[in-house]
Parts: sequence; C-alpha cells; structure tokens
Amino acid sequence: MRVALGVTGGIAAYKAAELLRVLQEKGLEVQVVMTRHACEFVRPLTFAALSGRKVITEMFGGAGGEANVESAIEHIAVAQAIEALVIAPATANTLAKLAHGIADDFLTTLAVATKAPLIVAPAMNVNMWEHETTRQNVETLRARKVRVVEPDEGYLACGMTGAGRLASVEAVAQAVFEVLGLREDLKAETLLVTAGPTEEPLDAVRYLSNRSSGKMGYALAKAGRRRGARVILVSGPTSLEPPAGVTLERVRTAEEMAGAVVANLDAATAVVMAAAVADFRPAETRARKIKKRDGLQQLRLEPTRDILGEIVKHRRPGQLVVGFAAETDHVLENAAQKLRAKRLDLIVANDVTQEGAGFDADTNIATLVFPDGRQKALGKMAKFDVAQRILDEVVALRQAGG
Ligand code: CTP
Repeated sequence: MRVALGVTGGIAAYKAAELLRVLQEKGLEVQVVMTRHACEFVRPLTFAALSGRKVITEMFGGAGGEANVESAIEHIAVAQAIEALVIAPATANTLAKLAHGIADDFLTTLAVATKAPLIVAPAMNVNMWEHETTRQNVETLRARKVRVVEPDEGYLACGMTGAGRLASVEAVAQAVFEVLGLREDLKAETLLVTAGPTEEPLDAVRYLSNRSSGKMGYALAKAGRRRGARVILVSGPTSLEPPAGVTLERVRTAEEMAGAVVANLDAATAVVMAAAVADFRPAETRARKIKKRDGLQQLRLEPTRDILGEIVKHRRPGQLVVGFAAETDHVLENAAQKLRAKRLDLIVANDVTQEGAGFDADTNIATLVFPDGRQKALGKMAKFDVAQRILDEVVALRQAGG
C-alpha cells in the first residue's frame, strides 16, 4: 500500500521524519514529496535515507536537471500509485493553494492530480491559524471531505502560545490509518507466527526439506502488524522480504524452530502455526560430505519435535492457538481430527494437490474448521486475503471470550 507524504515549509517539518517512520512501521510504502520551502528546514537526504527512495522536490526533474518524459509525467504516475496523500506539516500557504486548486509545484499538482484521499495536518503561528482566510480555506477543504488533523495548542516556535502546533505524530498517523481502512482490531494481541519450511541436515551439504515458500506465514505477519498486533515471526529458510515492523527470528531446523517458539510462548496471546515443519530428520548428521563412492543404502529417519503438540500442553488461559493442515487426502476429516487431538481453536485446512493452493503458490484455497464442527470454505484467494480472514476469526474468538 503506497502513501505520499507531503512536507511543507514550517519548523515542524522535522516531525515529518518521525511520521514517516510510524507509517513505514505499519508496512506502508511512503513516497516523500517536499516543497522548496520545506527543504530550507530539513534536507531531502534525511527523508531519502529513511524512506529508501528518492524524495521528489521539483516538477520536471528540478533545477539543473534535464526535463524528460519521465519527469514530465511523474506527478501522474505518483498520483495513480498512491492510496492516500498526507501533508504534514501543512502551512497556511499550502492550505490556501489546496483550497483553490492552485498547482504550482509538485506537491500541489499531485494533490489535484490524485483521486486518493487527502489528509492535512496544519502547523503555523496562532495568528495565521486563526486568520479568517485560513479558517475559510480549512472549511472549504473539510467540505471537500479532506481530513483535517487539527493542530494542538501550546508553546509555538515563534514564542507565542496558542493553537498551531502540529498534532502529535500518533494522531496524524491514526488519521492516515483510518482513511486507509487499516483496522486496529489486534492492538491488544501479540501474535507468534511460524512460517516456511525447516531444513534437516543430512551431511555438510545436504538436507531434507519441503516446498513451503513461507508466503502464508509472512502474509499473516504482515496483516497482523497492519492491524496493530505486535508480531513475532519465527521463520524457517525463505527468500522472502520480512514484513516491516515485525520481530523476526530466523531458524533452520525443527529443533531450532521449537526452541524459538517455546522461548516466545509466554509473550504470545495468540499463536498461528503456518510453518511446514519437517516431521522427520536424518537420525544422524555427518559433519563431512557423504561421498558417492561410499554409497548410502539407507537413510534412517527419526521424528522431530511436534511443536504444536507441545505448546498446546502448556498453553495459558486465553492464549489462542491456530494450526494448519496441509493435506492431500481426506482433507477436512484429517484437519478436524488434528483440531480435536491438539485442542486447537481453529485449523486452516488446505488441499495441496489443488491448483492455486498450498506450498509455492501466491494464492490458497483454504477451509477454516472450528471445534464446534463449523466449517468456512474460503474460495481461491491471495494468501494475504486468507491471512486477513484467519485474523478476523482471531478477533471473533477473542470477542467470544476466547
Ligand atoms: N507442526 C508442528 N511441528 C511439527 C509438525 C507440524 O508444529 N513437527 C504443525 C504445523 O505447523 C501445522 C500443524 O502442526 O500447524 C499440522 O502440520 P501437519 O504436518 O499437517 O500435520 P502433522 O501433525 O505433522 O500430521 P500428519 O503428518 O499426520 O499429517
């Protein structure tokens, strides 16, 4: 989800750096756009370093920069890519331009070019804030459904006291989250999520593993974080980018995964076990490579620790536990049986033989199975959407007193 953060020229411009971090922490991709005056207060480099992308300060590539087709239509590209535009701090001048559709720099042009909702957080001297023109401009913007995050009262940089201080970073961020429809319904939860496969070494170069990509667990971690949960992600080896704002613990073997889960169990209010943990490992691991000439007639395997089985024995009251069942035969019967045997609150069953379901796919076709026998078949959908549906059930279980 992409957001543009507009920074205009006021003392409070430096606070936009903190806002940027809070937005990113929520997993949002942020494109920073600064006015020329903003650059007098904070250098674009600060925002470029924090956001990891070029800061836009000028139309047409900027002074000295050669205008080209790309720079000439950049405002349209950004306008279409974003889902919200937040301007913080917004000066009296910028509010006036926004109210009247003046588009004389990149930021104000973007504001006219985008269909994304606009959030403004004004900050200025108290007299400027209370001036009749500013009042009227703010009313005009409000009437146009622009979300205005009112400034706070207090000591102002100009030495006066009154309204005009930029609202708190939390208040501005909250307004952005609300406008984007990002729920905060998991705020009270600490989610412990397992993801990916495990690797069980056979010798110095070989291991047993499975085709899990980790996508389902990472989607759960990302969705959980966006909904306000603290997230601890225990991940087997994957090539995925960890979602922003989650605590990541990388592990390799089932034994390591068990250790990391047990170590974090006390902190967790809900555990979601999306990892495809190896059920068996080589009974012995050779420190050196097994040579072809020495042969390997037999591979002796031993069971790994059943992490889910162990944790449910030690679960605290109110701790929710969600399991996964990846099956090829008798999918729902097997899932229901695992649910009962491990006394889970919910199990997510999927038939990995189906096209568009299971291990390496971006989509899944899952059925949620509950202890009271209820079943909810989710159609084929993106793993992120499956994650959201699972987390909806965590919220529902919590509301039901789980
Ligand atoms: N699981 C686990 N520890 C293991 C194996 C599995 O915690 N050693 C978890 C998985 O993360 C998943 C659930 O148990 O949430 C079910 O995994 P699955 O492999 O489908 O089931 P098993 O219990 O191993 O049963 P079976 O092999 O008979 O299907």
